[in-house]
Parts: sequence; C-alpha cells; structure tokens
Amino acid sequence: MVVQTLFPVDHVHGKGAGGKLGKAVVKCMDNLQFMADLPEGGFPLIVTSPPYNIGKEYERRHPIGHYVEGQRRVIHECHRLLAPHGSLCWQVGNHVSADGEVVPLDLVLYPVFKELGLHLRNRIVWHFEHGLHCTRRFSGRYETIMWFTKSDEYVFNLDAVRVPPKYPGKKYFKGPRAGEFSCHPLGKNPGDVWLIPNVKANHVEKTEHPCQFPVELVERLVLSMTQPGDRVLDPYMGVGSSLIAAVKNGRDGYGCDTEWRYVEIARGRLDDLRAGRLRMRPMDRPIYNPALPNGGQR
Ligand SMILES: C[S@@+](CC[C@H](N)C(=O)[O-])C[C@H]1O[C@@H](n2cnc3c(N)ncnc32)[C@H](O)[C@@H]1O
Repeated sequence: MVVQTLFPVDHVHGKGAGGKLGKAVVKCMDNLQFMADLPEGGFPLIVTSPPYNIGKEYERRHPIGHYVEGQRRVIHECHRLLAPHGSLCWQVGNHVSADGEVVPLDLVLYPVFKELGLHLRNRIVWHFEHGLHCTRRFSGRYETIMWFTKSDEYVFNLDAVRVPPKYPGKKYFKGPRAGEFSCHPLGKNPGDVWLIPNVKANHVEKTEHPCQFPVELVERLVLSMTQPGDRVLDPYMGVGSSLIAAVKNGRDGYGCDTEWRYVEIARGRLDDLRAGRLRMRPMDRPIYNPALPNGGQR
C-alpha cells in the first residue's frame, strides 16, 4: 500500500526557514523500490538509522556478512541520490551476537562508505542516559552518527546550531583583544559528543515504535547541513522523525518504511505538525537535572 502526504507551505514552525513548513512524501514500501524512482543527485541530506540486526520486531537476525551486504545495496543507492555537495548521515549502535559479543556497526559499515569515495567529516557520539541495565558488561549509553560528504565542498551552517557557551561572560585577559568577550556572540560549536535524551516512555515524542529518533537530534543535522527548500531523505523512516525535523524547518522530507503501522503514525505526526499540535522536545531545552528546582527546566 502507498501513502502520499503532500503539504502546502503554510504553517509557522521552526527556525531558519522563514517560518515555512516543507512538504512530505511518505510511502509504505521497501526502500530500494522507493529510491529507484527518486532523482539522481537530488538530495542534499540523507539521514537514517537502519535496523541493527538485533531481532527487533521489524527485522530478522542474519549473519553479520549478510547484514552488511543488505546495507551495501541501500548505501550504494543513497550515494546515487546524494547531491554533489550533499551529506549522508548513518546513525547506528551495536549488533550484539547470540553469545553476547558486541559488534560496533559503524566499524563494520565504514568500509562500505569508503568504497564509494565518501569523506567522513565527523563520527558523532550520541550520548543518552536511559536504556537497558546490563549485568555482564557496562550498560550501553551511546550510539554514533557517521557524517559523510560526497566531496570537499559541502554545506555546514554552524551558526544555525550553536549552543550556549559554558562561560558566557568570559573575556580575553591579555593580548590585542583583552577585555573583549572570548566566546562567539552566537554561542559555541556543539562539538561531536551530543547529550540528547533518547525517546523512552516519558519522552513527549514517544510512539509505539521501539527505537525512534528524537526530533531534535535530526534537527541539528538538518539545520547545519541543508538550506531551506532542500530535500531530505530517510530510507528507514520509522515513525517519520527525520521528516518532521525537515518539514518543521522548511525542508521537504521524503521517507519510506515497510511497516504499515509506523507509516500511519508518521502520517499522523506530520498532520499534527501541520496543525501545530505535535509535541516535541525543543532543541534548546536543558537536560533534566533532579538537583535543580523544576529539574532545571525553563
Ligand atoms: C531503527 S528504525 C528507524 C526509526 C526511525 N529513525 C524513527 O525515528 O522512527 C528502522 C526502521 O526501518 C524499517 N525497515 C526495515 N527494513 C526496511 C526496508 N527494507 N525498507 C524500508 N524500511 C525498512 C523498520 O520497519 C524500522 O521502522
């Protein structure tokens, strides 16, 4: 079954897009089939999180070599669709084999990106504080995002994603700029370790999907790596978090998933975004700190 949702540009959300929403194309189908009809070089940003081959409800476990072959086919097709100055962000965690051995998926997939001549710009560590409590190893509290570009010329809008500096009042105390503020007036570079809450039971964005992206995680990629009006693709869309991050910020989101129920949820979330009633954790909200009044929330 195929679902297509096309939004007019008519609602005010997000920053960096003049308050315009983008449009969304959402389909329930296999990603290779979906991507076959998309324009070559037409996507300035492709961002996704594939299945990790760990036996979640939407996947079957395969030997790791079989899994990498499947990923190779999808990554090659993404490369075909990636714009000449575009960015490809592949977000993964670990595969854990039957005997409990941990296989970092970025490690095993990295050669696939390199055989295509892609350039790694950052290996971003996404750190979160909730998850399974392990008893025979340390509990896993990070995953990674490999950010590749197709060429040395690429979009990076750092100012759109700067964060508050740790010491805003700090000044140079010597040299020609003594007395001037030493931090950038728009804030600091967020760095490559991102503490962003993962979407567990109490998160405002939680749906029935077991591993959805927090919208704010993808927003940082969308705002820094694309311009308003650009196309953003997520070939393993799940409940549409990447599309929401794109559409909210005036980019056009394209996505597919093989599970009908996730596609329905994605559609509903995009409708809610359009109606101004989708609940999302804002990008600039501080991490909850039980030691502070109201957890340090504004
Ligand atoms: C890790 S989840 C992605 C979740 C997504 N980031 C979100 O925020 O909801 C991977 C998704 O890939 C989908 N999937 C698995 N194989 C697929 C395929 N061949 N084509 C399209 N989607 C697929 C699964 O149904 C699952 O929802």
